[in-house]
Amino acid sequence: MILSAEYGVPDGGKLGDLLVLGVESSCDDTAAAVVLSRRDGSRAILSNVTLAQYDRHAAYGGVVPEIAARAHVERIDGIIAQAIEISGHTFAELDAVAATAGPGLIGGVMVGLTAAKAVALAHELPLIPVNHLEGHALSVRMSEEAAFPYLLLLISGGHTQLIEVSGVGAYRRLGTTIDDAAGEAFDKSAKLLGLGQPGGPMIEAAAKGGRTGRFTFPKPLARREGCDFSLSGLKTALRLEAEAIERPTAGDVADLAAAFQAAIAEHLADRTARAMGIVEQGENGARTLVAAGGVAANGAIRARLEALTQDRGWRLVIPPAKYCTDNGAMIAWAGIERLRAGLAPDFATALAIAPRARWPLAEPIAGREHGGGKKGPKA
Ligand code: KG4
Ligand code: ZN
Repeated sequence: MILSAEYGVPDGGKLGDLLVLGVESSCDDTAAAVVLSRRDGSRAILSNVTLAQYDRHAAYGGVVPEIAARAHVERIDGIIAQAIEISGHTFAELDAVAATAGPGLIGGVMVGLTAAKAVALAHELPLIPVNHLEGHALSVRMSEEAAFPYLLLLISGGHTQLIEVSGVGAYRRLGTTIDDAAGEAFDKSAKLLGLGQPGGPMIEAAAKGGRTGRFTFPKPLARREGCDFSLSGLKTALRLEAEAIERPTAGDVADLAAAFQAAIAEHLADRTARAMGIVEQGENGARTLVAAGGVAANGAIRARLEALTQDRGWRLVIPPAKYCTDNGAMIAWAGIERLRAGLAPDFATALAIAPRARWPLAEPIAGREHGGGKKGPKA
């Protein structure tokens, strides 16, 4: 590895193979992974360990930040050690450590970022604080062949956004949710239907065999320009339909779940189609749609996006579900992309970066592209 004397980080243009540890703890998954990016462009996910916390939060019907933070504290060291062991490498062989620095539940972000700082300090490794959304935005390039530019539909438990991705660090947000995130709508609605958590897969399973046509849901933001999303109205519509049934049978729940899932798929497709129209008129030239985030694992949504992209002559790329949901490999990969693009901050800057609860992807992040890497992060 070639270290730049000025910055103390690998020089993006002259890098050989890169072995990077990624740490993720921004919500309710404690995750770590080791990813190898070879000089020839090939890459290997050598380990990808995730420990979910559903059991800890089940009684509360949602993620409790304090419980999440405590669970991360208990588990992070073991998860990192496991990721290193499974990879077949040692800490000493790593080229860098990447960790989510936000956005997310602040207590959890703090735990993962601090653990990563400790590893970086102890083993004298470059540290790359990563925006969790950038992790989702770039993860497709780890497992698939996806060249820039592309349009990203990010649909997760915390975010529902349409982002034009032109390169590493080059993002334009075209739309976002004005209320619930798509995954949040699934999770809350699953609870309402008496299904377990996480709600998305539960609703998808319940919808199997259900009829999409028995219930009609409204079309959110039908008359509103732009690419923003609104999911809370669908959740309310589901509640009203469910409450109107005195003793819902399994068949009723299947029909409700199927109609709700279809309505979400339709809304996502409608807003995505608008964003595709904007991209088609721009200079960026993207004709690839990438769907990422936990909700992209949903079969009905995938099928709807497949139909949409086929109609418009676009290519659809969806990474495997294990890379769609929160994981450490996508954070390691974002770190690798930043290193190769020469956009990793110097060590002192990286070490000084504080965890952030809010951190929009389109906002500049600390790094060499902003003030020669001498600037700290925006608070
Ligand atoms: O990306 P992710 O793992 O975490 C966040 O960053 O939020 O997404 C988790 C969300 C949860 O709300 C979960 O219910 C949803 O993704 N999800 C699904 C499916 N699998 C996970 N939603 C719909 N259908 C699925 N099959
Ligand atoms: Zn996520």
